Amino acid sequence: MSGRIALYHQDYFDGISRVADASVDLAIVDPPYGLGKDYGNDSDLIAAGEYLGFSRRWIDALLPKLAADGSLYVFLSWQHSPEVFSYLKTRLLMLNEIIWDRRVPSMGGGTRRYSSVHDNIGFFARSKRYHFDLDSVRLAYDPETKKARSRSIFVGKKWLEMGCNPKDVWSVSRLHRQDAERVDHPTQKPIALIERMVRASCPTDGLVLDPFMGSGTTALAAARQQRRFAGFEINPEYMAIARKRVDLHTRRERDAPDSVEHSRKEAVH
Ligand SMILES: C[S@@+](CC[C@H](N)C(=O)[O-])C[C@H]1O[C@@H](n2cnc3c(N)ncnc32)[C@H](O)[C@@H]1O
Repeated sequence: MSGRIALYHQDYFDGISRVADASVDLAIVDPPYGLGKDYGNDSDLIAAGEYLGFSRRWIDALLPKLAADGSLYVFLSWQHSPEVFSYLKTRLLMLNEIIWDRRVPSMGGGTRRYSSVHDNIGFFARSKRYHFDLDSVRLAYDPETKKARSRSIFVGKKWLEMGCNPKDVWSVSRLHRQDAERVDHPTQKPIALIERMVRASCPTDGLVLDPFMGSGTTALAAARQQRRFAGFEINPEYMAIARKRVDLHTRRERDAPDSVEHSRKEAVH
């Protein structure tokens, strides 16, 4: 592996040997969910009974690459998160289940159960000494809370100024066709979600791994946050999109560093 941002047009299962053992500070995994999405290949045609086997394969290939203080986030659907979390818990320390509330508006839908509007994100660590930079992801207290804490016992309290720890429900809209950030990928993740993970869980200059890169959201987040990156994608069109997103950022940073700084603002609630 060479270069700070390494994008490989290669199957993850073949390419992972490029990554040195114990070198990954943070793995962000957004695998095919087995919901039959069209990624220009058949990778999402995983039968329900095969999903755990598929997950075990990518997990077993990834874990030797994780550093002793490294961590892993995995995006899953509610259909498969129970069994994948159970397996991961036999190998890693589970820290959180984060619910990504996609802020999907009410649109009718099924009549025999509730509408599903969230993804399940598992947050795991290799050991208790995992890296976690809380200060980089704190949220400012809202004026109401600050006012409610105006009694003398709270005045001057450092935590009131520093902000609070984000909760485990992350509310950020899925990307709509008209969003400026949107590119041509069916399950592109909002960069604000990924940047929070990178800031909190990867030291500056650390290495982020994304086995199923898609449109390169994690690559872009790593570049914007001055981390190194390695990722894999099998679809050549998504590869081209990922490369373009990273190149555009590199050019912007070179030509107008102030506008890039602006884009780092927290956007998840
Ligand atoms: C859920 S999407 C990732 C979306 C990505 N997080 C984003 O924000 O654009 C999964 C991607 O994995 C790719 N993929 C599936 N199997 C793969 C494999 N074995 N190796 C590398 N990429 C794979 C698919 O083509 C698809 O683009």
